[in-house]
Amino acid sequence: MSEFMFHSNLNNQNNLIKNKLQLKSRGETVLQAREISYRYGTGSWIMEDVNLGVKPGEVVGLTGKSGAGKTTLAKIIAGYLKPNHGRVTIDGYLLQEKNAPHPVQLVWQHPEKVINPRWRMEKTLLEGGTYTDELLQDLEIKKDWLRRWPSELSGGELQRICLARALGASPGYLIADEMTTMLDAITQAQIWHTVLHMVEKKNIGVLAISHDNALLNRVSDRMVDFSMIRDKYETKK
Ligand SMILES: Nc1ncnc2c1ncn2[C@@H]1O[C@H](COP(=O)(O)OP(=O)(O)OP(=O)(O)O)[C@@H](O)[C@H]1O
Ligand SMILES: [Mg+2]
Repeated sequence: MSEFMFHSNLNNQNNLIKNKLQLKSRGETVLQAREISYRYGTGSWIMEDVNLGVKPGEVVGLTGKSGAGKTTLAKIIAGYLKPNHGRVTIDGYLLQEKNAPHPVQLVWQHPEKVINPRWRMEKTLLEGGTYTDELLQDLEIKKDWLRRWPSELSGGELQRICLARALGASPGYLIADEMTTMLDAITQAQIWHTVLHMVEKKNIGVLAISHDNALLNRVSDRMVDFSMIRDKYETKK
């Protein structure tokens, strides 16, 4: 993966295709990672036969040891990596490359790595599609930030921009991979408060990945330990 992933998965990416599906969920638009196996190149398997489901409006906390493969799974679900085996579906439909924002948006731990340093913030925001004043207000993004360069914002401010970019793509699902780890406790709480409010408002499903079990306990409807699903203990949903 390149050092900068400027465009994230907002363009030329995957979208739902109306292929058949034998895995129809019971009438709900459920995001499902099914029997996912992955290894980098010819290295050892990072995961084998992993299953994980997230429902609309549900917040699933994913915890696990460092290096276990959580971010790798997040990248697979958000379409950055192709699994060696298995598939990711929404409502039973496979995701396929299309010129539209990916229905699963990923927010990373280090916003500066996924923002083009040569773009002013407004251009970065527009990468997600459109943004509304309401979205900016919800995320407490000040209008004057939009004229600035990334180096002229704090880490927490940049992360809000990344969140706005992700939410501007109107995703069905959001993956927050250590999204607030680098931030102070107050900013962390503010951002999660906003995210949970928006998740409820728009019925977005969230996969929250963190080593901070206390945080995950607060924000999640249920918790999943990566070592459990990697070892096939998670029941197939
Ligand atoms: N591009 C890559 N090429 C080869 N191996 C990689 C690559 N990216 C990650 N890995 C390896 O894959 C394994 C899983 O990494 P991953 O980043 O998914 O773990 P993680 O659970 O997110 O860890 P952390 O909690 O520290 O963020 C690690 O052993 C890592 O070294
Ligand atoms: Mg990780």
